[in-house]
Amino acid sequence: MLLEIRKYGDPVLETPCETVADFGSAALKQLADNMFETMYANKGVGLAAPQVGVLKRLTVIDVSAGERPEAKLVLVNPEIVSREGDQLGEEGCLSIPGFREDVRRSMKVRVRAFDVDGNAFEVEGDELLARAFQHEIDHLHGVLFLKHLSPLKRDLIRRKISKLVKAGEW
Ligand code: NI
Repeated sequence: MLLEIRKYGDPVLETPCETVADFGSAALKQLADNMFETMYANKGVGLAAPQVGVLKRLTVIDVSAGERPEAKLVLVNPEIVSREGDQLGEEGCLSIPGFREDVRRSMKVRVRAFDVDGNAFEVEGDELLARAFQHEIDHLHGVLFLKHLSPLKRDLIRRKISKLVKAGEW
């Protein structure tokens, strides 16, 4: 089932999420499935639960955009356990459509998480995957990529979005 993606301005995007406790539940599995479907339909490589209005620490990622089944990742209650290096690269967000900006991130990160059944695992990624981990885990803390931009750039984007809102185009 396709879910509605919340856009910048919706307070749900800037609210920290709650830890998931209902491991193994049909609702949790359904949420992850629906999030994958919604992410692929919108050509994204990552989607976090608050982006579909659910304040739970769950995110789905697939940097292969559906090309490689093994690239599909569901991260429940994820935490970054280590970071290395840095990278500067363009980033966008399905909740802030039409805006892409360079964001500085760690080059390589290691994440500890659980699957939907509650099995703990660790996964490491660099470059785009590391960027996706950091971007999506930020969402779970109520943080959008705009927070990593200079105040000047951030205000410019906010003003452009305000105009779109007033014009009924957001
Ligand atoms: Ni995002």
